Amino acid sequence: MYKTIAAAGKGGTGKTSITGLIINYLVEAGKGPILAVDADANSNLNEVLGIEIEETIGNIREEVNWAERTGEPIPGGMTKMDYLEYRLNQAVSEGNGYDMLVMGRTQGEGCYCYVNGVLKRQIDKLSSNYNHVVIDNEAGMEHISRGTVGKIDLLLLVSDYSRRSIQAVGRIRQLADELKIELNEVGLIVNKAPNGELTEPIKEEIEKQGLDLLGVVPLDPTISEFDANGEPLVNMPDDSPAKKAIKDILAKLQLI
Ligand SMILES: Nc1ncnc2c1ncn2[C@@H]1O[C@H](COP(=O)(O)OP(=O)(O)O)[C@@H](O)[C@H]1O
Ligand SMILES: [Mg+2]
Repeated sequence: MYKTIAAAGKGGTGKTSITGLIINYLVEAGKGPILAVDADANSNLNEVLGIEIEETIGNIREEVNWAERTGEPIPGGMTKMDYLEYRLNQAVSEGNGYDMLVMGRTQGEGCYCYVNGVLKRQIDKLSSNYNHVVIDNEAGMEHISRGTVGKIDLLLLVSDYSRRSIQAVGRIRQLADELKIELNEVGLIVNKAPNGELTEPIKEEIEKQGLDLLGVVPLDPTISEFDANGEPLVNMPDDSPAKKAIKDILAKLQLI
């Protein structure tokens, strides 16, 4: 079983849309409790899922790091450790069948070693309450490489329907190796393919990059329509082509 699932790929390839729909299916299939983690600095997973976010880990980290540097007292006379735990709990938003944690902005200059260390331990502890942790990540994989979100059981590389985008996920894969990220399984999802079909050059590129193709998600006007209307994608009809393709991928992975 893949406990921790993360999506990575270039901006605009569909990581957030796919991650949101995966979370939705896992919840529907009774595979919860699920912790959804938005680890993209440009956070918007909550919009796909249709929930409001109040606090981010990035804000908390800045706040406590600032207190560390300036010697400003921690509110309520708490220890730094207790305060971080209390604030981290506030950063967990409750959705329908899942909880959500937003990593938010990346850290500024200087040493965040203490704060990062405490946060890492607390996120580890928090993760143990869930059946799955599903992470919407950015191409640079900062939070994964820093170890904040722990080890990854399944890395989903999300690519557009283009050779260059396949090459880009090939590089992300290499980066994951270089960063020595602990991965059990890595698979490719090609998104936005017209009619869900791949051309020969794209198939060749996938092979050249040594990527394992998990599935193809078609270009789906329902996604564009929902996005344009500001509607959460999780409300899309079950028979919309992209949703069906994602369900097939999850079934193939024996996740649902
Ligand atoms: N299968 C698809 N069909 C049509 N539009 C899509 C599809 N997947 C994603 N999109 C659109 O592509 C854009 C980028 O998607 P998003 O999930 O935000 O990508 P990322 O998180 O990788 O930046 C969004 O406008 C989204 O509506
Ligand atoms: Mg995104």
